[in-house]
Amino acid sequence: MRTKILEILRSKSEGYLSGEEISRQLSVSRTAIWKHMQTLKQAGYEIEAHPRQGYRLKNLPDLLLPDEIRDTLHTKIIGRGEIYYFSDIASTNSEAKKQANLGCPEGTIVLSEAQNSGRGRLARSWFSPRSKGIWLSVVLRPPFNPYDAPKCTLLTAVAVTKAIRRVAQVECGIKWPNDILYQGKKMVGVLTEMSAEIDAINYVVIGMGINVNIEEQDFPAELRGIATSLSIAAGREISRITLLNAVLVELEQGYKDVIERGFSEMLGEWRGFSVTLGKNVNVVGSGREFSGMAVDIDNDGALLVQTEEALERVLAGDVSIRPQI
Ligand code: BTN
Repeated sequence: MRTKILEILRSKSEGYLSGEEISRQLSVSRTAIWKHMQTLKQAGYEIEAHPRQGYRLKNLPDLLLPDEIRDTLHTKIIGRGEIYYFSDIASTNSEAKKQANLGCPEGTIVLSEAQNSGRGRLARSWFSPRSKGIWLSVVLRPPFNPYDAPKCTLLTAVAVTKAIRRVAQVECGIKWPNDILYQGKKMVGVLTEMSAEIDAINYVVIGMGINVNIEEQDFPAELRGIATSLSIAAGREISRITLLNAVLVELEQGYKDVIERGFSEMLGEWRGFSVTLGKNVNVVGSGREFSGMAVDIDNDGALLVQTEEALERVLAGDVSIRPQI
């Protein structure tokens, strides 16, 4: 009902719509319409009510409300079914895993305006201030071998990079495997978590943390030198809803493509966006640390690093790009 009321209000771009007219169109009482208007106002919609003329939608809230997302989203799977939306949550990835374990359909998404225990890779925390970013988790049930699941991370990094470039014209790049950087500072992180049997994936939860409208002074001191946001890079505020829409569309397209045609094209796109390849890197992981030149990623998405002694294959770990001398 709320979605229908919003549709009617949106269709009237100027002036007021009487409560009587809305109740007639929807065949419900004016009292019921009044109650729905109160709920919409509580959700953040600015609705002006005039005693004689009726209602007018004054402003859309800067919130990632499911009704707003559905209104403009052109996907078939991702964001089409359930959208779980929170004002506050510990972690959207934890909630998405809970829903996935309960059997939610593929394409279910979880969003929150803020996270109080946002999680990053390697047990780090993720700074998730209220309404300044996109804190999103997507549940997929890919028909891949569990061995191929890490490629969902690469696929997501490609999709988010394309969406950012399209919506904000910011030339960001990917640091292996999944950080999106702008001028060396991190703008997006991706955390993929999986539940699988030996030969089949139950689900993959892809968590994305996109720093959209965070200002320099909003970042805690320890992040200031290493993190950035899209608005800092673009020099203007970016509509979170437009960007979210683009991310979901690109993700669905990329996902469909790898299912239909395999991973090689996506890996090619990843290489094209990479800021790691051709650079000297330092790798820390699996109890080892070494340096070398990042020369390529292989068909499994592993980073190939040429050290003085050997060609190392890195499947997990922390890679930092060393300053060029
Ligand atoms: C990283 O770069 O370390 C990954 C960061 C991933 C953060 C996102 S925010 C939405 C989702 N929920 C979480 O708790 N983490 C991911």
